[in-house]
Parts: sequence; C-alpha cells; structure tokens
Amino acid sequence: MKIDRSVCIVTGASSGIGAATARQLAGLGARVVLAARRTDRLEALARELPGAVAVTTDVTVDGEFEHLVAETVDRFGGVDVLVNNAGQGLHVPLEQLDPVDLRAVFELNVVAPLRGMQAVLPSMRSTGGGAVVNVSSATSLRVFPGLGGYSATKAALNMLSQVARIELADAGVTVSVVYPSVTATEFHQHLRAGRILAGARTIPLDPPELVGQAIMLAIRTGEAHVLVSDPPRPIVPGDAEGWGALLARQSSEAGRSPGDTPSGERTAATRLTEEPRG
Ligand SMILES: NC(=O)c1ccc[n+]([C@@H]2O[C@H](COP(=O)([O-])OP(=O)(O)OC[C@H]3O[C@@H](n4cnc5c(N)ncnc54)[C@H](OP(=O)(O)O)[C@@H]3O)[C@@H](O)[C@H]2O)c1
Repeated sequence: MKIDRSVCIVTGASSGIGAATARQLAGLGARVVLAARRTDRLEALARELPGAVAVTTDVTVDGEFEHLVAETVDRFGGVDVLVNNAGQGLHVPLEQLDPVDLRAVFELNVVAPLRGMQAVLPSMRSTGGGAVVNVSSATSLRVFPGLGGYSATKAALNMLSQVARIELADAGVTVSVVYPSVTATEFHQHLRAGRILAGARTIPLDPPELVGQAIMLAIRTGEAHVLVSDPPRPIVPGDAEGWGALLARQSSEAGRSPGDTPSGERTAATRLTEEPRG
C-alpha cells in the first residue's frame, strides 16, 4: 500500500509508539486520524502534523470505534489504514493474576482491535482494500514467567490477526502483526498491574520510532509478521525456517557483548534472550 495521501487511523496516538507512528505517517504524506482518550495530547499532536485530526476515543467503549470511523469517513471519504496500537501491560505472576485485570486488558488488547477491524471493513471493502496493522509484542513469541496475562492477550491478538488475514484477502485487505520488544514509552508506567521485569529494567530500550519503521514496512509490503529489530524484518512465527532463523540470531547474539554488534547496540532479539534472567 502507498502511504502518501492514504487515510490512516492510529489508536493509542497520544503517546509512545502510536505518536511516533503518526509522525512517520504524516511525514510520508498520509492524512492521519489520531485516536486515544487524552484529548489534550491528541490535539497538541494534531496541531504539529499537517492534515491530521484528533478524535477522542476509548476503544473499549461500545460505539466509540464506529464513531471514530464515521468521523474519518466524513472528513476524508474513507479509511485506507488502521493501526491497532492502543494497549496496556499486565505483568504479574499467574498466582496473583486478578481475573478482573485480565478481562480489562483482554478488552483493550484483543476485543478492541477486533472492533476496529470490524468498524473499518465496510469502508475498506467499498474502496477495494486497505491495510490493518495490529501491534502485538515479542513477548508473545516466547514464554516469559511473570508476563502470562499480557502475553496471552497478545497471543490471542496474533491468532485473530492471522485468521482475519485469510478471511479478508478477497476484499484486498492485508492484516499484519508487528512485534515490538521493550520500547522507551510510558508503557511500563501504565501497567494495569505488576511491574517491569527486573532484567528488562537494565537493558537498552528500542526507540518508539523503530517500531514505527516496522509499522511502515507492514503497511507498505503487507507482510504478515514483522519483528521490531534494527532494521525491522519479516518473520514467520512457528515456521521452521523463519522461527529457526530468529532463534539462531538470538543465540548467536546472546553470547556477544553490546559493543560486538555492528551498531554498537544490542538488538531487540538479544534483549528478548536476556529478559527472563530478571
Ligand atoms: N513499550 C513496550 O515495551 C512495548 C513492548 C511490546 C509491545 N508494546 C505494545 O505497543 C502498543 C503501544 O504501547 P506503548 O509502548 O506506546 O505504550 P504507551 O505509551 O503507554 O501508549 C499506550 C497508548 O494506548 C492508549 N490507550 C490506552 N487505553 C486506551 C483506551 N481504552 N482507548 C484508547 N486508547 C487507549 C493510550 O492513550 P490514552 O491513555 O490517552 O487513552 C496510549 O496512547 C501497545 O499495544 C503495547 O502492548 C509495547
């Protein structure tokens, strides 16, 4: 999909990955619709980005995604891209995991992206297609003690996305999943419950712009799965070749010191290898 002149909805655009993604999309000529609950932040960003509009939206509330899409269609005539990015962490061991918290995070990380896909489909079908990018997490690619609740929501999102990709192919809609690693945003200050893993606290964080680059790659190419690494790259989770390549990269980089990598920084895959040590 061509980004220039496209109409793109970004949820969770009031901070972190969503705001960085909105900036990159606008920089590439897209007309961006910024969605989240904090109106002041959305409006400040909309003033900064040519052609952007802010629509205050709680994606977990019935009817609000439909309202967001209706506003977008009224303003721009359709929707080409949906970036389902709004999300929250839940970082507690299963023994302490409160089902109330798990249900709430499921609503945001799984049910809301489903609502989003359903809400944009009529417009995308009528214009012959579009791109959906669902922001998952690299924690859904491996098993991390302490992250069961959060990882379960992202693993559910992965499956919904893969099914949607097949079901919507005939409509010309690509559905992609992007897998960020630990990223420098407000995410760990806004966990629904729990705290960042001790090991993750001491390691270099990816900038949100790197996740934005992975999202641009997903929109442009329609790749099914994009891992946030430097540079971002397509993967095939579960596939012997793609998954084997990811694991091989992790194990070869795990033995290196940070200065050993060409950029002098550890990569997302290396950090993933290190996280469970905390
Ligand atoms: N940071 C990481 O280490 C990391 C790693 C892997 C994956 N991710 C994923 O990346 C995505 C973005 O997170 P981030 O790192 O950018 O964290 P963040 O800075 O905390 O951003 C989260 C965004 O979600 C929005 N949001 C939360 N609840 C919402 C609701 N009910 N309705 C609408 N918007 C809502 C927030 O805006 P308002 O509060 O204004 O509504 C905010 O803009 C999430 O899906 C997260 O799971 C993050």
